[in-house]
Amino acid sequence: MDIDGKGVAKEWRDKIRDEIINCDYRPCLAFILVGNDLPSKTYVRMKERACAEVGVLSKPLYFSEDISELNLLKNINILNNDDTIHGILVQMPLPNHINSQKIINNIDPNKDVDGFHPTNVGKMVIGEDDCFISCTPFGIIKLLEAYQINTKGKHVVIIGRSNIVGKPLANLLIQKNDKYGNATVTVAHSYTEDLTKICKTGDILIAAIGKPNAITIDMVKSGAVVIDVGINYVQNKIVGDVDYDNVSKICSLITPVPGGVGPMTIAALLHNTLQSCKKKI
Ligand code: GUN
Repeated sequence: MDIDGKGVAKEWRDKIRDEIINCDYRPCLAFILVGNDLPSKTYVRMKERACAEVGVLSKPLYFSEDISELNLLKNINILNNDDTIHGILVQMPLPNHINSQKIINNIDPNKDVDGFHPTNVGKMVIGEDDCFISCTPFGIIKLLEAYQINTKGKHVVIIGRSNIVGKPLANLLIQKNDKYGNATVTVAHSYTEDLTKICKTGDILIAAIGKPNAITIDMVKSGAVVIDVGINYVQNKIVGDVDYDNVSKICSLITPVPGGVGPMTIAALLHNTLQSCKKKI
């Protein structure tokens, strides 16, 4: 059966919209987009549209590919000091001449609605509530909660160790937390030996690799829950990291692509922006 990320995300967005309609503050999210990367442009456009639908204001700042690191840092500093801005999102990836981590480190942690700043990452790892959780892991946890998929004692296999998905997600799932934690987590990656054998032991299998159809039916335990984080463009079509057509025959639940994790990531971003605004007031 499909996990309806689109539907769960809509309910979440509706709650956010209702809260914003019924209050007298207006959250505002600044978007920084550098260059002409087509998927990045698409993501930012989708996020801006979602903002408009729930009543979050957007401030788009689009720069050419050759902007200097210093100029970008100056712009971030202006946003950090602007009281009307509650969230700052720098769309990744950035061009190679810019040190992405340096950029992230210079965002005010109180406006880091992506949850990428070391202060927010550190708090999340320790298990403090007072932090922003990065949007894709946050969205996945909400999706598991919505489907009452208890992670306690379960073996979760995550394929992919990125700072945006794999690492934060692994840390959330091992937290001492009855709602989404208490799992046994394996993080597999490009150097993992016998990936198939490890994947097959996963009660919950989470693919965040960025390779179309990389997770095949022989890698999945029968009855497993499969979460596909991949968004890959193949001949102008979006496909996930999981061979959906075959894997969906043997697993109990699976997130489709599109319509699974993606909409939850965007809803989580809106949630974080609203929380940031509320904290300020
Ligand atoms: N690039 C891919 N995913 C993300 C995300 O969640 N946030 C930002 N800022 N960039 C990304």
